[in-house]
Amino acid sequence: MRQPNLRTGIARQAKTALQHPKFMRAPVPEGHASPDDRVPARWRKEVERVLITDAQIAQRIRGMSRDIMRDFAGREMVVVSLLNGTVMFLADLIRNLALPLRLDFIGVSSYGAGTESGDLVFTKELRLNVRGRDVLLVDDILDTGKTLYRVLGKIRALKPRRIKTCVLLNKAARRVEAVEADYVGFEIPDFFVVGYGLDFAERYRNLPFVGVLYPHVYKKTSQQVIPAKPRKAGGRVGG
Ligand code: PRP
Repeated sequence: MRQPNLRTGIARQAKTALQHPKFMRAPVPEGHASPDDRVPARWRKEVERVLITDAQIAQRIRGMSRDIMRDFAGREMVVVSLLNGTVMFLADLIRNLALPLRLDFIGVSSYGAGTESGDLVFTKELRLNVRGRDVLLVDDILDTGKTLYRVLGKIRALKPRRIKTCVLLNKAARRVEAVEADYVGFEIPDFFVVGYGLDFAERYRNLPFVGVLYPHVYKKTSQQVIPAKPRKAGGRVGG
């Protein structure tokens, strides 16, 4: 869910990263559509528009799969996917990979229900032994980079033969950690995106496209005013 701090602009690293020739990416498609009737009625006032259609996603995944097959040909790979946001992307990606592979998951999440927390909690550890193996690490969105940076460190410590990273979405303007993905589906602007596995407060993951939320939806939660506890005379609380 984490996609905080819209438009704070950490553009320095982003610019350098975007210019790097090794990253395979496609720009976000032109022309945004209005959400269709696949958006549940209850969410229609919350999902502002479609940013990337399911057809555009499917086409891009076929392209990414070709790149991955070319790079991983000849050896059995281990695909490591990060829970929970990769659910749709992973399913579509691996069915396009005509390669021998084994699949495992790491459960990692930002702590709590807010959009701003940087604390990561591991909810599931890797079970396969990746030592000496070719690993493809899959995530739905590369945002600040904190998740990928941390998980990469964890997997590298297990001494794989090599590790490559694959994300559907890259929001380069928000990068905090110096980390980039080897395969990128779409570069996206600093919009709060949901759908196709991405959530806000665990909702919207089932939308078949990547969409943009109306700001009132996430601001309502992330900028909630929490009443302070009354203080006793003298300024000390308790005791
Ligand atoms: C989201 C997303 C990425 C991560 C990216 O996960 O799925 O894993 O944030 O953010 P970062 O680059 O700023 O670290 P989240 O922790 O919200 O859990 P989820 O996959 O269950 O939605």
